[in-house]
Amino acid sequence: MHKSVQDIINMKKDEKKISVITSYDYSLASLCDKAGIDILLVGDSAGMVMLGYENTIPVTMDQMCMFTEAVSRARKNSLIVADLPFMSYQASIEEAITNSGRLIKAGADSVKLEGGTPMAETISAIVDIGIPVMGHIGLQPQTTVLTQGYKVQGRTKDTALKLINDAKELEEAGVFSIALEMVSHEIAEIISQTISVPTIGIGSGVGCNGQVLVVQDLLGMYDKLKPKFVRRYMNLSEDIVKALENYKNDIELGIFPAQENWFSMNDGELKKLREEIER
Ligand code: KIV
Repeated sequence: MHKSVQDIINMKKDEKKISVITSYDYSLASLCDKAGIDILLVGDSAGMVMLGYENTIPVTMDQMCMFTEAVSRARKNSLIVADLPFMSYQASIEEAITNSGRLIKAGADSVKLEGGTPMAETISAIVDIGIPVMGHIGLQPQTTVLTQGYKVQGRTKDTALKLINDAKELEEAGVFSIALEMVSHEIAEIISQTISVPTIGIGSGVGCNGQVLVVQDLLGMYDKLKPKFVRRYMNLSEDIVKALENYKNDIELGIFPAQENWFSMNDGELKKLREEIER
């Protein structure tokens, strides 16, 4: 049985840190699950790292459902959270519920959406019909990119107070956890100590109850951006390029494929074939 939302809530009570990684495809999601990561987040960052968009705004529900289906086929143990993409939940509560349902049907266990207090009513409606929701405050890539760009949140007393209030309202609305993106570490710690549900930080310091990274960032596979909060655990793009150059070289030298890579006709069949062709 895979992890449940309640297991994640209990981790905070038991003072256990929560590991979260983004996943969008079957192969990598299988490895993340095998590594024992607690939550696979089908993030709308897929738009950037998988589809090459400049930001997450163009991502559609159909795309998110496809990524979610692939991850759900791979998952054995982790909890799956899937992002509601831009404009799939803002226009009306009805649309938010319908689209949350689509992600659950695609294999997610819960959904995530961006926004503080103005989203509380929507979150409450989704939770009321039985779909667990992860909130997402601080930097909200779907909209901050339209107004202020990527910038640390909660650096002043007033913005910090607003963030703390947002977190409380989301807790009240029923979220099972809250992602804190690029929030100053002092405020992330205060929020984590103030609310009862777990906080999952990205660029928000060590005081959060868990951490999330984009898997391509961690593996060193995405070079377009290298935010300060990313820790690269390997440089996979270098290894991949090296492997591909070796492959190309082997083809050109005629040493790939080798005998162990090809198939033969049954014994005696080639001789019979040659005789027939000659006749
Ligand atoms: O889409 C995503 O990857 C996210 C994380 C940055 C939290 O929402």
